[in-house]
Amino acid sequence: MRRFLLGNEGIDGDVIAEAARILRAGGLVAFPTETVYGLGANALDESAVDRIYQAKNRPAASPLIVHVAGVEQARQFAVQWPAAADALAAAFWPGPLTLVLPKSAAIPDRVTAGLATVGLRVPSHPVARALLEACDFPIAAPSANLFMGVSPTDAAHVRTSLGEAADLILEGGPSEVGLESTVLSLVSERPVILRLGMITRRQIEAVAGPLDRAGEHEAREGGTHASPGMHPRHYSPRAALLIAGSGDPVPHGRVVRLWWKEEPAEGQGIQLPADPAGYARELYRALHLADGCRPRYIVVEAPPTSEEWEAIWDRLRRAASR
Ligand code: TXA
Ligand code: MG
Repeated sequence: MRRFLLGNEGIDGDVIAEAARILRAGGLVAFPTETVYGLGANALDESAVDRIYQAKNRPAASPLIVHVAGVEQARQFAVQWPAAADALAAAFWPGPLTLVLPKSAAIPDRVTAGLATVGLRVPSHPVARALLEACDFPIAAPSANLFMGVSPTDAAHVRTSLGEAADLILEGGPSEVGLESTVLSLVSERPVILRLGMITRRQIEAVAGPLDRAGEHEAREGGTHASPGMHPRHYSPRAALLIAGSGDPVPHGRVVRLWWKEEPAEGQGIQLPADPAGYARELYRALHLADGCRPRYIVVEAPPTSEEWEAIWDRLRRAASR
């Protein structure tokens, strides 16, 4: 595994060309996105995609998001492209939104875990964009961590989690959004959110009209909007995570606290920003840091419950579920 630092000097075209060569040859490249780091393979190369599942220890039933350079490329891989897709792409791409649409035959079944749909996303991180521009194929990429672990928001997290599994790790600094993309299904009349993210319900409804909330329930049950791989326990640190004030008894033993209010809690801890975007950006870094102290428990002070915090709550609940 070789590593390249893409720092203040800007993006090194030779490094991007090397990354594109590795992908074209069937290798794996970890790369930064604005949400979390991804572990990428040529989405049209089935055996390269297989290597992703092996590297992550990921069950084959978990579909991968296909990253593309822009709307035109996205349209090539979807057999239907409703007006809502155009409106959402215009509003949120490049950015942290994945659109699930009926897939074209060009996308191997391995990528979508046998589903008839594909999740498509145009990331905004300049390194991801440069990489996609340099490739003449789309890049399948899950978060670059072992299955069920906390997603990486910088290159050091990728190294710790995946070690030598990536042929190359591109470094692009800390991820700005910090939580995985909002996943939105457009396969029926009304859009359905399959995974919450920092693009909120209200923002989506403002562009694409009312969401189908019943469809979210159906997604969990595995119907038309199936989103296999959305395990309740996901994004989990090694330590047991408890949400303070949610009724969990806070036990004795080694504890790291995560708090967001001005007033620091007692004992050892990490303070997170009090605004939702800042909190989301820092959350996984704090979880990686806390977990690195090998505590028995991570106790998170419950954040606010307004809509901008909904995706954060989704991840906290998953991380806390055992
Ligand atoms: O922000 C992100 O989305 C990051 C970066 C790297 O782009 N990627 C990511 O990938 O989080 P992953 O594999 O960790 O999560 C993909 C999610 C899963 O919840 C999966 O069920 C859903 O997207 N998904 C992918 N394709 C789908 C499909 N065809 N139908 C329904 N859900 C799909
Ligand atoms: Mg993941």
